[in-house]
Amino acid sequence: MEQVQVRAHAKINLAIDVVGKRTDGYHDLKMIMQSLALHDTLTLTKRQEAGVTIASNSTRMPLDETNIACKAAKFMIDSFSLRQGVHIDVFKRIPIAAGLAGGSSNAAAVLCGINEMFALGLTKGKLTEIGKILGADVPYCICGGTMLAEGIGDILTPLPKHPKTVVVLAKPQRGMSTPKVFGKFSREQAGEKHPDFATILSGLETSDIDKVSRGIMSGMANVLESVTAAERPIINDIKAEFLRNGAKCALMSGSGPTVFAYFADERQANIAAAALRRKFSQLNEIIVTSIE
Ligand code: C5P
Repeated sequence: MEQVQVRAHAKINLAIDVVGKRTDGYHDLKMIMQSLALHDTLTLTKRQEAGVTIASNSTRMPLDETNIACKAAKFMIDSFSLRQGVHIDVFKRIPIAAGLAGGSSNAAAVLCGINEMFALGLTKGKLTEIGKILGADVPYCICGGTMLAEGIGDILTPLPKHPKTVVVLAKPQRGMSTPKVFGKFSREQAGEKHPDFATILSGLETSDIDKVSRGIMSGMANVLESVTAAERPIINDIKAEFLRNGAKCALMSGSGPTVFAYFADERQANIAAAALRRKFSQLNEIIVTSIE
């Protein structure tokens, strides 16, 4: 096979709690992860020359070896002594540095794509082991769906499938650095509140979107919001505007700064997206998508 096309889906977090700090600089987490229909499309092509090249429709993505998709390809080529090189073309739709796993999902897609294109026969378990070396969210991105993620985010337990829902994403202009957010996180600042895992999980088990939404809105569903929203007050304004426009729930995803909100149907979602575009003219990334 000379070429493969792979989808790299965005993710949101329905809940994030920091349960401990590790000696390796990472944090132990408890999260609920969910993939979205929104995806980048990666086309991988074998090259006769050695090495990895990358191109993209996005002008905001680094097109060199610092790109995590390139790192993933280089890792596979070196680990499996592949003789040919790989060209990666990324059609980007997922906002960058947004808390939506845009980079991690691209890396996951490269691992899966190279496995297929070079017929390496690696199992999902082996691919997730490799993924963990590249980034904490990469194992989840290889699996996708609705998952409880523990450890640094790499210990995955499948959860009941999330009911189909329309989701609107709104990303404040400047991206957010994940290491910076974790570096500033303190339990004192986050306070005593934690995510209401019980209500969200019960909502998933009964496929009750209103209960899932109630769970997201009670407690502090994403403790990292205490850091990011302190730096970007617009996050709280976006959440309030979503709720004023009929959202069932609104929460920051990952380390931010993107806010996601659930809507009853596409019509309400589009009305809310238009209201946000009017109110926050500086937001150029407002996207209507759905739970995958
Ligand atoms: O693994 P990844 O490169 O995506 O993580 C980026 C940074 O986020 C890490 O270097 C670390 O500072 C922080 N992080 C963390 N605990 C996690 C995941 C990420 O502290 N579980």
